[in-house]
Amino acid sequence: MGRTLSSFVCHNCGSVTSKWSGKCESCNQWNSISEGPGSSAPPIGRGAKQAKGQSITLSTLAGSDTQCDRLHAGLGEFDRVLGGGLVPGSASLIGGDPGIGKSTLLLQVAATLAKAGRRVIYVSGEEALAQLRIRAARLDLADAPVELASETNVADICKTLKSEKNIALVVIDSIQTMWSPAIEAAPGTVSQVRVAGQELIHFAKNNDTALILIGHVTKDGQIAGPRVLEHMVDTVIYFEGDRGDQFRILRTVKNRFGPAHEIGVFEMCSDGLIEVQNPSALFLQGRDDNVPGAAVFAGIEGTRPVLVEIQALAAPSSLATPRRAVVGWDANRLSMVLAVLEARCSMSFVGRDVFLNVAGGLRINEPAADLAVAAALISSLIGTPVPAQSVVYGEISLSGAVRPVTQNAVRLKEAAKLGFKMAFAPPTSKGDNAGLKRHDIKDLASLIAALDIPAQ
Ligand code: TYD
Ligand code: MG
Repeated sequence: MGRTLSSFVCHNCGSVTSKWSGKCESCNQWNSISEGPGSSAPPIGRGAKQAKGQSITLSTLAGSDTQCDRLHAGLGEFDRVLGGGLVPGSASLIGGDPGIGKSTLLLQVAATLAKAGRRVIYVSGEEALAQLRIRAARLDLADAPVELASETNVADICKTLKSEKNIALVVIDSIQTMWSPAIEAAPGTVSQVRVAGQELIHFAKNNDTALILIGHVTKDGQIAGPRVLEHMVDTVIYFEGDRGDQFRILRTVKNRFGPAHEIGVFEMCSDGLIEVQNPSALFLQGRDDNVPGAAVFAGIEGTRPVLVEIQALAAPSSLATPRRAVVGWDANRLSMVLAVLEARCSMSFVGRDVFLNVAGGLRINEPAADLAVAAALISSLIGTPVPAQSVVYGEISLSGAVRPVTQNAVRLKEAAKLGFKMAFAPPTSKGDNAGLKRHDIKDLASLIAALDIPAQ
């Protein structure tokens, strides 16, 4: 029996079915299903002739193409995040909140590459050419030979790109505004984003062109619409930061050509984004050593050590259920640290609102921050500052024991470089202390003893 090749896609949730219906079974939306290329459909143009299959050539891992010439964007922090520059033929997705600076960053990257003699095409579906030119003038990049287009039809874009030669980089701002005439759905819907993304990525892979797609982020912090787009591209980067603050952090969450979880730090100034080469110094600037409730965490982000201040405030609460508010860290992790402090050290936070903040707009995911959070919480509760010029790190287990973490030497070296004199850290057998006085913390009781805080 012949296999049917058509499939039906819901514009609302992206689910694919083999038959049309008025209501989507997955999301209960009415009138959202139309015919389109679903994930189960084979690529267009290959039909019954190939249904039996053809034999394919198998190859080995060794080959002459193990090295590639990466494109250096000229912005050191951007290249670092990508693992050493853009790989020709790769597709990258950059997501971030509106107004965070995605268009600014990519225009700077495009202009720097164009000035270095590469062909760069910047397609904006959001802004008119005049708006792009105003931004370029503001960034003092108006003389860069970037080729611009204000367009949203992917078929037209791909046709134009295919007729051009030697394009090094194509920037699409943003993928949610793009639409393909191949399917009926409205721009920004899951199926449109998927099809438009597929066509552009197909062009990039076939022509050895680096492709950067800009994506919007939803309220809950995911790239809007399609998680499926994250699977299709080689690199997924988030551009984060607090819009009220001038710092911006570029973070890789997936990278097929380099390390993930790498960060690049930028400062948004009146004339664009400026890279920050020493983020620790920046995150610690204006810090007062003598305030209860603050501890400096010696962390690792990707391959680089980053020192950042963790601030805690445990204030008496008038609420029946006291508040727990966290910025830059995991709220569940805070609950765990509070529970362990209560159960193992009799440090009670009952009847207190607890606020935790990671200074500078950085988001920390490392469990090694547990000990710094505990130190900040204890210090705030007792009203005694954590000893001056000290850094803290270590993972806390539910028993109250402090577990060793990796890369001790790198953390301590960075702390020494920034003038710190002391470290509260889990004991390790090996390693150089980089000239810091090290307090071995094997459990929370020894942290309390080392912080020189009166017992409760
Ligand atoms: P934009 O790149 O348009 O953000 P996105 O594309 O992520 O939506 O950046 C807009 C913000 O950046 C806007 O609030 C103004 C600010 N900005 C500066 O502070 N300096 C500059 O040089 C530029 C171009 C923008
Ligand atoms: Mg923009």
